[in-house]
Amino acid sequence: MKAELLIKNAAQVLTVKSRKAKVKDKLEELGIINDGAIAARNSRIFRIDKKIKIDAKKTIDASNKVVMPGFVDCHTHLVFSGSRENELKIKLEGKTYLEILESGGGIYATVNKTRKVDRKELVALGLRRLDEMLLSGTTTVEAKTGYGLNPEDEIKCLKVINELNKRHAVDVVPTFLGAHAIPLEFKNSPDKYVDLIIRNMFPKIRNLAEFCDVFCEKNVFTIEQARKILDEGKKFGLKPKIHADEIYWTGGAELASEIGCISADHLLESSDRGIKKMAEKGIIGVLLPGTSFTTMEKYADARKYIDYGLPVALGTDFNPNCWILNMGFIIALACYSMRMTPAEAISASTINAAFAINRGKEIGSLEIGKKADILILNVPNYESIPYKIGMNIVDTVIKNGKVVVENWRLRK
Ligand code: NIG
Ligand code: FE
Repeated sequence: MKAELLIKNAAQVLTVKSRKAKVKDKLEELGIINDGAIAARNSRIFRIDKKIKIDAKKTIDASNKVVMPGFVDCHTHLVFSGSRENELKIKLEGKTYLEILESGGGIYATVNKTRKVDRKELVALGLRRLDEMLLSGTTTVEAKTGYGLNPEDEIKCLKVINELNKRHAVDVVPTFLGAHAIPLEFKNSPDKYVDLIIRNMFPKIRNLAEFCDVFCEKNVFTIEQARKILDEGKKFGLKPKIHADEIYWTGGAELASEIGCISADHLLESSDRGIKKMAEKGIIGVLLPGTSFTTMEKYADARKYIDYGLPVALGTDFNPNCWILNMGFIIALACYSMRMTPAEAISASTINAAFAINRGKEIGSLEIGKKADILILNVPNYESIPYKIGMNIVDTVIKNGKVVVENWRLRK
């Protein structure tokens, strides 16, 4: 039996094997095979071992290199137009994220730009961003809308996400975040906007999105509004996610456990009670240290949450306020700023991130039968992944069994 691809002599193969999202000490277990090999056929992994004797169409010698699952970036705001580099100076002068938003900047500035461009332009921007993600090892990405904030432009952005998924090697998972901010047109009647989402948008997007998310925050969407949107979304088959307790405690983690979200994200200000309830229900806590870095705010208390048994995942939160496309940098931030260990951060960026987007049975680890989404890194051991900061250590990326990045370059 011939393999399509054989990778051999890897210094370490990190299988990150697990049937469910990892918690506590399990996060430390990377299932390492020293001097390992892996073979793929029909876009799936079909052998993993120390030595594999098999003929293959393509063989890669991974001596002195680490082989691991592709990164899963489980929280991004991929689709928008423009950029907000102008806000850095304003942040340095001491303006907070919510002050910038309330003065009509932040999300509102990006909404203005995103509404003005057509699908084609957004697709071109998205393809470029996905290229950069793939070059740094991301093989699956979750992508949220949220810069349209009206039926027409939210649907436009969802269509863009679906088109990106079809056209790019990276798998793109669509999340509807129509409740990202109260549109300025509805500033004095936010409940009317909530109604618009439920009555007008949900029926139109049911086949375009897999998840529904809400930015539940002081002066944005209240707990009651978030509950209503996420509960109604479920009726349209949209699995709930939530931006919870990012800037102020609002009870977001508690709500996530009450309504059974698949993940609750950010969690900087969550209560112990809320986190413990999430842990009991196995809800993934998506931690986004890139956001803390770029807003110059505190970091989520990852050590405490891991102690409580919360299955933690990591994502970039790529958005115009946090222009980070590289999961390697997020892993470094998780270690240096949230005191996660390298192994914990790797588990959180692969298998747990896959569970955060309901893909844990398909991707996130190197196991027989799973998709052959594989990275070959220019480092001899996994501890070097967060250690070598700010450079791209990804040498080769295999997506669905095919080499899509070789020698740091995209193969098109
Ligand atoms: O996850 N907090 C809300 N949404 C994004 C930021 C979006 C933006 O500032 O454009 C976040 O950080
Ligand atoms: Fe976000």
